[in-house]
Amino acid sequence: MQTLVILDFGSQYTQLIARRARELNVHSIILPFSTSIEKIAELAPLGIILSGGPNSVYDEGAPDLNEAILNLEVPILGICYGMQLLAQHLGGTVEASSTREYGKATLKKVGESVLLDASFDRSTIWMSHGTHVIGVPEGFSVTAKSGDTICAIEDPVLGLFGLQFHPEVVHSEYGRQILENFIELCHFTRDWTAESIIEQQIETIRATVGTSKVICALSGGVDSSIAATLVDRAIGDQQICIFVDNGLLRQNEYDEVLAVYKTMGLQVKPIRAAKLFLDKLKGVTDPEQKRKIIGGEFIRIFEREAKAIKGANFLVQGTLYPDVIESVAVHGSSVVIKSHHNVGGLPEKMQLKLIEPLRETFKDEVRVIGATLGLPESIVQRQAFPGPGLGVRIVGEITPERVVILQQADAIVREEIERLPEIRKDLFQYFAVLLPVKSVGVMGDQRTYEYAVVIKAFHSDDIMTTDWARLPYDLLATMSSRIVSQVHGINRVVYEITTKPPATVEWE
Ligand code: XMP
Repeated sequence: MQTLVILDFGSQYTQLIARRARELNVHSIILPFSTSIEKIAELAPLGIILSGGPNSVYDEGAPDLNEAILNLEVPILGICYGMQLLAQHLGGTVEASSTREYGKATLKKVGESVLLDASFDRSTIWMSHGTHVIGVPEGFSVTAKSGDTICAIEDPVLGLFGLQFHPEVVHSEYGRQILENFIELCHFTRDWTAESIIEQQIETIRATVGTSKVICALSGGVDSSIAATLVDRAIGDQQICIFVDNGLLRQNEYDEVLAVYKTMGLQVKPIRAAKLFLDKLKGVTDPEQKRKIIGGEFIRIFEREAKAIKGANFLVQGTLYPDVIESVAVHGSSVVIKSHHNVGGLPEKMQLKLIEPLRETFKDEVRVIGATLGLPESIVQRQAFPGPGLGVRIVGEITPERVVILQQADAIVREEIERLPEIRKDLFQYFAVLLPVKSVGVMGDQRTYEYAVVIKAFHSDDIMTTDWARLPYDLLATMSSRIVSQVHGINRVVYEITTKPPATVEWE
């Protein structure tokens, strides 16, 4: 497989670079900057991108470039910090500045370039830097500036490029085209498509599993359903799916999804374990502890079930690429924000080997794979739902009563939004969150002292960033009055107007 390696120096935008490459049908993989040259060479990358990062090359302990990658003799594109590292290592001059340039700027072409087309002159670019290059290494030329700042350099003979701005960010007008030009210079054949992923995964699954049996952890969500279908296409009845009712699914979801699985022809064993999970969660309020308990309980159930199936050595999970990246703590790189249960809950000593056919794919790629596999709309277009379920949407203690309260409020939010397909189509997720806060209200001349619920609805391209949806007031009013009058235990409704960052999607 042809691979583009992205070395992560800690930029918030590193994942975006990977996504852009994939949109251009190029398989890309993010590795920490400190990855050994042997490991990089093993992948035989056709090109390497050095991400940006929060550091200045002059910071003590700042992540450094392993110069050995230059010996791989493949095109390298350094973005922002990556450009500064390239310049510094090749004999250029980098200057630390006391002020930071942040936001939109204008690119001015000042020289011939194989990376930047003539039409990019005077286009908008996105800058975010303090340090910058003031002297280029020998063999390099400056191809573009922003004001007096050097913002693009290249050595077309060695195939080395540097951009001070971020082409991966949508605000850079020709960013996508610049990345496409780089990819062309690397001679990628650009065949990373849903069909090729499916084909390749089916082959890998068959080769890995042989004649063993596999159990699959279905969660009811898009990812595990699609992972199971891929495995089904590869090895059919060797797979036994287990669908656990952890008591934290949405209203009626368990029975509805179980019925869909049956129509998809998957062998599913239902396990009703709501009480087990809720007992374990009793009295627990710490978000990370909740996630670990739920994740751990899942795995224990799967292990128990696997033991009962003769010859079951593998466990299928619908882990996605962002789950993997966010869960890997890399020194100096992206920090761990939350333990995603697919990864964080795994016990140290797994009894089962993992099969994760979607481990390298992003959410939207998964939906395309699902549609290509012919799965029903109700599964493919299902809104994302976290593995720990309502457990991370009930802030504070999870009790059976509070689960029911949230399920009822959440059902109203979904019902009202789904009545309006024009609004729904632009939303990434929409749901309710139950707070542990009680407040005083008045209902029918009686004092009430009940919980508050949050309505949340937002737009997002890639879930790394979100913006809250400007829902019509009338819609919010309907949801609010229905919740307060129909859900026993809630007397106050609020709407979330925070973006991500600084907030995250799930409250816990
Ligand atoms: P955050 O809260 O990290 O959420 O901004 C980003 C996206 O991931 C979903 N999410 C999860 N999905 N297991 C999952 O499979 C988890 O533990 C988990 N936590 C959050 C969340 O719904 C959003 O789409």
